[in-house]
Amino acid sequence: MTFDQQALPHVGDLVIGILGGTGDQGRGLSYRFARAGLRVLIGSRSSERGEAAARDVAALPGVTGEVTGAGNADVAQAADVAIVTVPWDGHAETVAALREPLAGKIVVDCVNPLGFDERGPYAVRVAEGSAAEQTAALLPSSRVCAAFHHVSAVVLADPTVERVDLDVLVLGDDREAVAVVLALAGTIDGVRGVHAGRLRNAGQVEALTANLIVINRRYKTHAGLRITNL
Ligand SMILES: NC(=O)c1ccc[n+]([C@@H]2O[C@H](COP(=O)([O-])OP(=O)(O)OC[C@H]3O[C@@H](n4cnc5c(N)ncnc54)[C@H](OP(=O)(O)O)[C@@H]3O)[C@@H](O)[C@H]2O)c1
Repeated sequence: MTFDQQALPHVGDLVIGILGGTGDQGRGLSYRFARAGLRVLIGSRSSERGEAAARDVAALPGVTGEVTGAGNADVAQAADVAIVTVPWDGHAETVAALREPLAGKIVVDCVNPLGFDERGPYAVRVAEGSAAEQTAALLPSSRVCAAFHHVSAVVLADPTVERVDLDVLVLGDDREAVAVVLALAGTIDGVRGVHAGRLRNAGQVEALTANLIVINRRYKTHAGLRITNL
């Protein structure tokens, strides 16, 4: 199958929940999905912070989708697709606490387990192999995918950026769930979702973010990835 031939599902009616969506990455993704007309729920450990972030995002230029905020559990309950955008430090605890509301749902992990020291960023070893596989282990009844690791929150949140110039690598073992996430990535102007394999290959995708951060620092930019000949 060529890239153009792939049939992707319609995702315009899905409710997208962003868990830990009050941070840079969550706000950036919320903005882009709301700009695409999707309904977005911004989750937080505090419903007030979720609501405040939602008001901020809803006021940004070009937003046509409804954006509301709530606590993470309520967002997980109401979402069709939930995206985990918390720091690695809070990852396992956050995901484990949402096992029930996330049962049966597509859960997208974009968490990069990274450490930083005086020599710069580095990939942290994860017992399960990756953050996404940790999520899959903690949420056995959810349809876990991994995506959006390499998108710069700064670019996503910049209203002057009309087209986000990069490919989003999507990984997962559930082909139908992967197709939904590919389509979701494609709702962001300029972005292509690219199927990049099973969840067991998520570790190196997450780790590659350390290299991108080094590139960003060295060349003072917000670099993204493109897969060529596709
Ligand atoms: N920033 C980027 O450009 C980027 C790009 C790709 C992927 N990512 C990944 O996306 C994730 C979020 O990045 P970010 O820069 O948005 O992070 P962040 O701003 O530090 O955190 C995001 C949100 O997570 C919540 N949070 C913080 N500590 C927590 C904890 N211990 N337990 C549960 N929730 C906690 C906070 O929301 P409340 O206090 O409201 O609950 C916070 O606003 C990271 O795993 C990162 O690897 C980031």
